[in-house]
Amino acid sequence: MAVTSSAVLAFLLLIAASAFAAPPPPSEGLLPNGNFEDPPKRTDLKKTVIQGKNGLPKWEINGLVEYISGGPQPGGMFFAVAHGVHAVRLGNDASISQSIPVKPGSLYALTFGASRTCAQDEVLRVSVHPQTGDLPLQTLYSSNGGDTYAWGFRAASNVAKVVFHNPGVQEDPACGPLLDAVAIKELFPPRPTRDNLVKNAGFEEGPHRLINSSNGVLLPPRQEDLTSPLPGWIIESLKAVKFIDKKHFNVPFGLAAVELVAGRESAIAQVIRTLPSKCYNLTFAVGDARNGCHGSMMVEAFAAKDTLKVPFQSQGKGRFKTASLKFKALSARTRLTFFSSFYHTRIDDFGSLCGPVLDEVRVVPLSRC
Ligand SMILES: *[C@@H]1O[C@H](CO)[C@@H](O)[C@H](O)[C@H]1NC(C)=O
Ligand SMILES: *[C@@H]1O[C@H](CO)[C@@H](O)[C@H](O)[C@H]1NC(C)=O
Repeated sequence: MAVTSSAVLAFLLLIAASAFAAPPPPSEGLLPNGNFEDPPKRTDLKKTVIQGKNGLPKWEINGLVEYISGGPQPGGMFFAVAHGVHAVRLGNDASISQSIPVKPGSLYALTFGASRTCAQDEVLRVSVHPQTGDLPLQTLYSSNGGDTYAWGFRAASNVAKVVFHNPGVQEDPACGPLLDAVAIKELFPPRPTRDNLVKNAGFEEGPHRLINSSNGVLLPPRQEDLTSPLPGWIIESLKAVKFIDKKHFNVPFGLAAVELVAGRESAIAQVIRTLPSKCYNLTFAVGDARNGCHGSMMVEAFAAKDTLKVPFQSQGKGRFKTASLKFKALSARTRLTFFSSFYHTRIDDFGSLCGPVLDEVRVVPLSRC
């Protein structure tokens, strides 16, 4: 009897142990203390500077990291904190990191609020071994300090060490990026279907949107399609494209779309499989997000050697139209590229960049050219 009950006990302990061994990977949401609202202990703060590697709950810090409350600062600066009340500022060469359980091989997007604190060229380096990306924070896309970015990575093992690093060595030690909230989402890259060769054609699969994030999520430049936070799509050129949702913007189809906020300095592209010499019909929707972006807009589309310019007169009413382009494939791969010809800012806020919305991209083969 004693043997049986101790065996049962051992078995139960084993179940309990395995249940505690690895918490299930978060499929979506803020990282532990991801919005920095759980403050350092008083003894771990010297004025605003966090003391010791483990001074910030759930995070590991390296170098000079400040714990910031949004609003006017002692030095005369003003820090806008859009998500909650607190944020951290990374000083010269400082970093914060956190290890989280993930599924090896899966694609993830991190979403985080980030902004620069001075006029200098500040850069935020995000890395999850072996991937790393440098985000230029020079351009302010919204005037209220609420810029939110996404960055994608593919998990190489069952633990991802997420590191945010300020690689800069600014002259003024009071400068350096502000990090406001960090969330994660596992992404499921959609596949092309028989009636559409474009993957993630309506931009429905994309990064987590932070609560109260009414500014959309910026997809930074130089994102390759294998690790893009917008599965299937490549962000080209120098500046970001904005991922927008139906909750805060008008989107032509489904729950999401992209807004081309940086004129000719930013393009979104996808490489699709084609048959050389075959003709295809590319269709897409162009509109406005009903976000105060008015004026004469133009979206340029490229496929193989064919191009199309689609004018759209925006009255900021959330309208859209569809356009089509017949193209002839030249090889087994064809790159589709879209960008906005012009630059726009909101009519009520010249500090916020905006532009035409792109949605519902379709490519179907034509029976003859
Ligand atoms: C979102 O905004 C509402 C209303 O302004 C506020 O009550 C709530 O605390 C905010 N939530 C977060 C997570 O910031
Ligand atoms: C491409 O598709 C659009 C929308 O269905 C259609 O109006 C257009 O005629 C098609 N173009 C060709 C060349 O078939």
